[in-house]
Amino acid sequence: MDGTDEMRVVQLAAGGCGARALAVAARLGIADIVADGAMPAREIARRTESDPEVMARLMQTLAMWGVFTRDAHDGFALSEAFAPLRADHPRSVRNLCILTAETYDDAFGALSATVRTGRSGFERVFGVSLYEFLEKSPDTGRIFDAAMAELARPTAAALAQEYDFTGVDTLIDVGGGDGTTLAGVLADHPHLRGVCVDRPDVCARGEATLGASVGQRIADRISFRAADIFEEVPAGGDRYLLKNVLHDWPPERCVRLLTAVGRAMRRTAEAREPGLAPPRLLVLEPLLDQESDAAHVLFQMVMCGKDTGGLGEHDLRALLERAHFTVLSAWRSTAGHHVFECEPKG
Ligand SMILES: C[S@@+](CC[C@H](N)C(=O)[O-])C[C@H]1O[C@@H](n2cnc3c(N)ncnc32)[C@H](O)[C@@H]1O
Repeated sequence: MDGTDEMRVVQLAAGGCGARALAVAARLGIADIVADGAMPAREIARRTESDPEVMARLMQTLAMWGVFTRDAHDGFALSEAFAPLRADHPRSVRNLCILTAETYDDAFGALSATVRTGRSGFERVFGVSLYEFLEKSPDTGRIFDAAMAELARPTAAALAQEYDFTGVDTLIDVGGGDGTTLAGVLADHPHLRGVCVDRPDVCARGEATLGASVGQRIADRISFRAADIFEEVPAGGDRYLLKNVLHDWPPERCVRLLTAVGRAMRRTAEAREPGLAPPRLLVLEPLLDQESDAAHVLFQMVMCGKDTGGLGEHDLRALLERAHFTVLSAWRSTAGHHVFECEPKG
């Protein structure tokens, strides 16, 4: 091992420090504070009510890692490559950054337990499952919803372009978070209405914030319905969406959830005038298809346990079959998700 090798080892070991430093910058909104031009660390400290000496070291450290640039007068500005750290950036990942570097990183503190037992490190650290924790911790819940919305925007925009919504009136997004996916689709299809189904706390936050984030005209076409989606899904949709939900659950729970969606779709079909098209389900998942997805699988195992790691195309098709769905078509969205259009059998 030469000196370079040693540094590579140490750099990887120090990754957690870098993540935490980035999360602090994101929490304090420093990327937005310096958006209009370079600013000295003492002014950043003043605006964020922080210790000037420590802030100077934080900014120098983040500049060393390329997050900020530093000019000849010790002014710090955001590097172009880190523009998505800004809250107002169209592809902002500010909340995802905070969620990953704080809550998810805390859960990785129990990685060794997951490696030994196959059980969720998240549960070991927090004493409850991810969604139970989010319910009890509104600050993290808000960050989680906003992080999911950041991830959802490009997928929703791609779906709006790629799928033919002609003849569709109502979209029901099952486990739809704060309504961002629906809003992204509805923005391009003014004839659509949406129903977002999620846990009560998520629906309450979505209802309160969606108008401000996507505009009231779109938010007015979306209603929220609090429900436990493993038990009951509302009827009345022409298309049901299930995006990034299944990969958090072991197979038995996935089948239970899909069965609940199937029941709602059958009730919808039965209540329709004869001749009207039956509803369809669109499942959107970032399926695993290469070994480089290993880090993602490991992450999933730490968050939700070994049984949730690694949903591939074969697994998803098997789940849909077990829940009595027929896959009508499947494609890879330009945003990267796999999309399966399905109908309940019989
Ligand atoms: C990974 S997030 C995906 C959110 C959204 N579909 C998206 O892609 O942005 C999973 C969602 O499922 C919701 N969820 C989890 N368990 C639920 C339950 N039992 N009933 C209703 N919603 C639930 C969570 O609150 C969360 O919003």
